Amino acid sequence: MINVKSSREIELMKEACKITGEVLNLLGESIKPGITTLELDAIAEKFIRKHNATPSFKGYADYPNALCASVNNQVIHGIPGNRVLKDGDIISCDIGACYKGYNGDAARTFAVGEISEKAQKLIDVTRESFFKGLEFCKEGFRVSDISHAIQIHAESFGYGVVRDYIGHGVGAELHESPEVPNFGRPGRGPRLVSGMTLAIEPMINECDYRVKCLPDGWTVETLDGCLSAHYENTVLITNGEPEVLTLV
Ligand code: MF3
Ligand code: CO
Repeated sequence: MINVKSSREIELMKEACKITGEVLNLLGESIKPGITTLELDAIAEKFIRKHNATPSFKGYADYPNALCASVNNQVIHGIPGNRVLKDGDIISCDIGACYKGYNGDAARTFAVGEISEKAQKLIDVTRESFFKGLEFCKEGFRVSDISHAIQIHAESFGYGVVRDYIGHGVGAELHESPEVPNFGRPGRGPRLVSGMTLAIEPMINECDYRVKCLPDGWTVETLDGCLSAHYENTVLITNGEPEVLTLV
């Protein structure tokens, strides 16, 4: 069942998403060669708690931290640790904040110092593919219209669209219906209606789309060792243009 949010719920979603977007901005300012992923996790958690929210991921399915920090060939769910970021790395930061029972969910891939042109291109196209999907985030379109738009854009650059992990509804639960894949034929799945809140999150690999999960049970890497990027926002469907709640 898809939860269509009431106006009260939407107000709480907006606050949760504002905090989530602001954390990502803060992480973007904090990322530099020499910092560890665990230090970034601490920065994020402190900011979230200072704003009367809690980290949505910490404790979710026993995930140990506030932040998912995935470096280079890591796709998603990288567990923060003592890894020191170095010049030329890229890092995908995925974070959620829960405010008065409602969750924001968003991710960005950041450059560490100076990165290669090909890494920057991957980051740019991943972000663009989200906005291609966003064009279909309107009443009357169906979920897979979003999926298809994302896939077409990313694959036109020869990139691989991750299939094993997908976007989702978000609200009182971090993961709600519907599922929002980043690939697929258009015209399928539930019809979009005003009041739905969706986490749309293309995960795009530089080469092959296939991924593997490490023995830690969380960290997902590209199978072939190529780079991967992630871009996610929580989006509110309205009877007009969509609102990207985590872009602040
Ligand atoms: N944004 C990710 C997702 O939607 C983060 C979940 S990490 C977890 O799945 F730890 F909370 F599982
Ligand atoms: Co998500």
